[in-house]
Amino acid sequence: MRELSLHLLDVVENAIEAGARHVALAIVEDLDADLLTMSVADDGRGMDPEALRRVRDPFFTTRITRHVGLGIPLLAAAAERCAGGLTIHSQPNGGTTVVARFRHSHIDRAPLGDLAGTLICILMRDDGLELSYRHTIVAHGAERAFEWSTTEIRDALGDLPLSTPVVREWLSGFVTEGETQLKEAQDAKTQVS
Ligand SMILES: Nc1ncnc2c1ncn2[C@@H]1O[C@H](COP(=O)(O)OP(=O)(O)OP(=O)(O)O)[C@@H](O)[C@H]1O
Ligand SMILES: [Mg+2]
Repeated sequence: MRELSLHLLDVVENAIEAGARHVALAIVEDLDADLLTMSVADDGRGMDPEALRRVRDPFFTTRITRHVGLGIPLLAAAAERCAGGLTIHSQPNGGTTVVARFRHSHIDRAPLGDLAGTLICILMRDDGLELSYRHTIVAHGAERAFEWSTTEIRDALGDLPLSTPVVREWLSGFVTEGETQLKEAQDAKTQVS
């Protein structure tokens, strides 16, 4: 996949399909350690050890619409190609945490891509999923983060659904602006060095 954000979308879709009500998405770009980590933790039905063992196999899927499941194998391959790897912790009824690591500067590492668009796409499902999000950049020992949760946003909105056009527009601006500011702060730091 050309963008890591599309892998993120896929892992979040897995969580939703597993019945998750809460999903915590974290991206850490540690430029000092030259490491990019993306993690998705859910409280869905989880996997037993046998399913967990087979999840990297493209021919393992619990989908009934087709017989291959490529999300996890593709993400694992992308991470391994970039001197990183994929770790999955899961327990039946205990949720699942997927962590993908990449060498940040690796020539084969795909860009994060349209994170804002991906987040809006998840938020617009508006099916009661609670999402918490944190994108952190560490550079020269300093940490900056863009962080929010649907719980906070829903509290502020009262009864307005997230998919209401005016809310959608506001969310889109909020997420795009947050990501842009984070990126600008990172670029400014990188130029100083
Ligand atoms: N977060 C999760 N919780 C529970 N089971 C999961 C989770 N993520 C993946 N799985 C299990 O692993 C299988 C393989 O996942 P994978 O993303 O590789 O393929 P898929 O979702 O089946 O199909 P695709 O991603 O190609 O649409 C899923 O069908 C599901 O059974
Ligand atoms: Mg999938």
